[in-house]
Parts: sequence; structure tokens; C-alpha cells
Amino acid sequence: MEHSKHIAVVTGAASGIGKSTVERLLAHGWSVCALDISEDALASHAAELQVGDRYWHHKCDVSSHDSIKLSFAAIRRRTDKVDALVCSAGIVRPGSLEEQSVEDVDRMLAVNLKGPWLTTKEALPMLRNRSDVDHPSRVVFLGSIAGIRPKVGGGFYGASKAALHVITGVLAVELAASGVLVNAVAPGTVATPMVEAMSKPGTGYQVSGESPLGRIAAPDDIVDVIMFFLSDAARYVNGTVLPVDGGTRAAFVRP
Ligand SMILES: NC(=O)c1ccc[n+]([C@@H]2O[C@H](COP(=O)([O-])OP(=O)(O)OC[C@H]3O[C@@H](n4cnc5c(N)ncnc54)[C@H](O)[C@@H]3O)[C@@H](O)[C@H]2O)c1
Repeated sequence: MEHSKHIAVVTGAASGIGKSTVERLLAHGWSVCALDISEDALASHAAELQVGDRYWHHKCDVSSHDSIKLSFAAIRRRTDKVDALVCSAGIVRPGSLEEQSVEDVDRMLAVNLKGPWLTTKEALPMLRNRSDVDHPSRVVFLGSIAGIRPKVGGGFYGASKAALHVITGVLAVELAASGVLVNAVAPGTVATPMVEAMSKPGTGYQVSGESPLGRIAAPDDIVDVIMFFLSDAARYVNGTVLPVDGGTRAAFVRP
């Protein structure tokens, strides 16, 4: 796939979907700035990648505006433009609405909802540089099927993603005239460390099983769609939330 864009910032870049996105972008010739709260995981990924100065990374907590500002100050020392922002940082804190702690709810909203918004705000001046309505830069959020078909035990996780879907549409319209397209991928269950952690007994959360396609998603199933949103083929696609769930949400299966 040919891409006309070349510098991307990826959050949640040290694990799962974010990490696979970084690897795919690098394989397609992009330069990538990887942001994640886990500095150790970023450093060990950096050691595996052999792409020279096309990859660099910063510790960044997307729930903290100050931390995001510091990361973008560092990015601005290397480049004055960013062609794409992929916001994959996210957390799940399972629990019933009766038992869920206020701290867990605050943290999910801070990371999953405010995080992508604050990161986009900070990236905007660089996203606008050299973009116009005919050559738009791109923002891709990681939403979730949980924000479309909510689940018991994941009430506030789903609410954080549903709200992110709303933000996707509003940002897309607000930014359209300045040449920035905003879309979201809404995955079903994906085999990542997040899901491994939730599948352990005692989490109080029932991870969905395989989709109608007979398996859960691999990170690359999601990355393919992220790459579509970043490609020239998606130059007129804006403000969409695209389910990538093998059809899970399309109809209930009754035994
Ligand atoms: N795996 C799934 O089944 C699934 C399904 C739907 C949506 N999603 C969404 O996709 C995104 C990626 O999920 P994943 O499965 O790859 O998860 P993951 O846990 O494997 O990776 C998430 C990454 O985000 C980082 N992170 C967490 N809090 C952060 C913070 N405050 N600041 C910066 N980085 C932070 C983690 O360190 C980790 O590297 C998330 O937004 C998630 O909600 C995942």
C-alpha cells in the first residue's frame, strides 16, 4: 500500500495494537515517534527494532496534559510536522457499577477519553503543517465494540469508548476545513496483553469468545484498518467509527 504521509506519533506504542502499528508503519517506510507510560517496554522494543533514526520514543502518560506537552516539546525538536497520530493507549478496569471504585472510573476516563483528546490538541499544530483539504493529515483513535454494544462488568470502560466515539465525530467536523481527518477503529476482542490480563480468573470480567468468523482478532487485523485510515484510499473518509469485530455485534447468537 502506498502512503503519501511519513511521520507518525503513536500512543500506547509499547504493547498490543499500538506496538504492532509501530512495526507496520516502520515496515512501510514511515518514521515513528512512540509514546507510552511504560518506559521499560519502549526501551526493550527499541532494542529489537533496527531502523536507525526512523524510530524514537518518549515516556508519556496520556492522562497528564503536562506529560503530553513535554513529549510534544521533544517531538518538535526533531520535526515541525506530524502526518498521523494514532491513539492506542488505553486501560480496562473491570467491575460492576455497584462495586467499581471511583479511582478506577477516573483513571479510565482520564486515559481512554481525555488522553486521545489532549494528545490530539497538542499534536494539532504539527498535524496542520503541510496538510490541506486535498492532502489531509490523519488522526485514528482506538474505540471499542464495548462502546457500541456495552457489556456487564465493563460499564465505564464501554462508556469511556462510547464517549470517545462521540469525540471522533465532533473533532472530525471541527478539523475538516483545516485538513485533518479523524476516524476511529472499534475492535472486538483482540489477542493482546490487555486481554491476557483480563482473562485471568478473579478479574470479574468475562472476555468475549471467538467472533462469528471462528476466532478472536489478531493485532494485525486491527492494524490493517488503521493503515487504511492512514492511506490515500481513505482521503474522503472522516468522522467514522468502524467496527472491526468479525461481525460480533451484528446479531446476538442464541444457543
Ligand atoms: N485488546 C482488545 O481486545 C481491545 C478491544 C477493543 C479496543 N481496544 C483498545 O485498543 C487500544 C490498545 O489496546 P491493547 O489491547 O493493545 O492494550 P495493551 O494493554 O496491550 O496496550 C496498551 C498500551 O497502552 C499503554 N498505556 C496505558 N496507560 C497509558 C497512559 N496513561 N499513557 C500512555 N500509555 C498508556 C500501556 O503501557 C500499553 O503499552 C486500547 O485503547 C484498548 O482500549 C482493545
